[in-house]
Amino acid sequence: MREFVAEHVAVLPPSGIRKFFDIVATMDNVISLGVGEPDFPTPMRVREAAIRSLEEGKTRYSSNWGMPQLREEISHYLKRRFDLEYDTDQILCTIGASEAIDVTLRTVLAPGDEVLVVEPSYVAYKPAIALQHGVPVVVTTKAENGFRLQPEELEAAITPKTKALILPYPNNPTGAIMEKKDLEKIAKVCIQHDLLVISDEIYAELTYNGKNHVSIASIDGMAERTVVLNGFAKSFSMTGWRLGYAAGPKELMKAINKVHAYIIMCAPSMSQYGAIEALSDDAKCDADVSAMRTAYDQRRRYLVDALNDMGLTCFEPEGAFYVFPSIAKTGLSAQQFCEKLLYDAGVAVVPGDAFGASGEQHVRISYAYSMEQLQQAMEKLRTFLQQNGWI
Ligand SMILES: Cc1ncc(COP(=O)(O)O)c(C=O)c1O
Repeated sequence: MREFVAEHVAVLPPSGIRKFFDIVATMDNVISLGVGEPDFPTPMRVREAAIRSLEEGKTRYSSNWGMPQLREEISHYLKRRFDLEYDTDQILCTIGASEAIDVTLRTVLAPGDEVLVVEPSYVAYKPAIALQHGVPVVVTTKAENGFRLQPEELEAAITPKTKALILPYPNNPTGAIMEKKDLEKIAKVCIQHDLLVISDEIYAELTYNGKNHVSIASIDGMAERTVVLNGFAKSFSMTGWRLGYAAGPKELMKAINKVHAYIIMCAPSMSQYGAIEALSDDAKCDADVSAMRTAYDQRRRYLVDALNDMGLTCFEPEGAFYVFPSIAKTGLSAQQFCEKLLYDAGVAVVPGDAFGASGEQHVRISYAYSMEQLQQAMEKLRTFLQQNGWI
């Protein structure tokens, strides 16, 4: 029989996270700090709104774009929280930020187009580009720059074939953010080279040290060349609801919606009813979001101190819910370190190279886990390091 799987799919590597957690799944009594998923339930008001919609039999397809009321709420929310101006006809509801990434790339990429991918970063970008026969070009960020994208490094990676930049801040896995002054320099390069920016802002609600998230789309001259991606998973603890959105220039969003309409039809209706409640203008869910942020912040500070104290040098993350300490002092590769930690101490963290080669010698620890779990894991980690003579 012939080989049915297309060559460009066959060569895609499996996610480094998945591979590692397949091992974890076969073991008992492991404390896993591996998953990037909030440990809080979805706010009750949101769950009730979705249940109500089901009880009332509101179970039909919505408009391809998403429900008008939801897009209205998203428009108000983006203005209120991030000073972004989008009309409802510039906002498309998608199946998570995941679909928003994919459908945007499907719409803009022709075979051979290059897309700049800032690494370390989320595992889905490069495969999503490769699936469109685009070419991912990696731009590496470094701990000494706070894992922020540097304009000169961006510029050096641009060729005549470069079409877009995926800007992944607040960042998974490093927890880095970009401030207004950083974004202004990046914006200048993007305008000069006529690039589209696909700005993945899924962690926009999760920033610390009093630094609010700034969207590159709010910088002068950028709204017309940026697609902002966001969603409900991380900020409202709604991962399983599979709801996100893309907002951008009107004509581009029309094209993105055309593709979305053929491949997806529309985002799930019950999730959209829930999301309307999550964003509703009286902003009652702001208190839930803020309570989760405060809990993450407390865990973040605990972990950064604990890891630095053990000599696992840890850059202070100011966004998302991950820390990304260096394990260089152990002399092991990230994969070796994680496997040994798992088998010897029963603690699972993610090897940094799962997020790109530049993540080597680091591990990602998620703090979307209770303080109690984090404390137990840190105790085990300390003993593990002591037993191996690393502290
Ligand atoms: C940076 C980043 N973007 C997008 C996603 C996917 O989000 P969603 O669950 O909304 O599809 C994730 C999930 O971990 C992520 O970390």
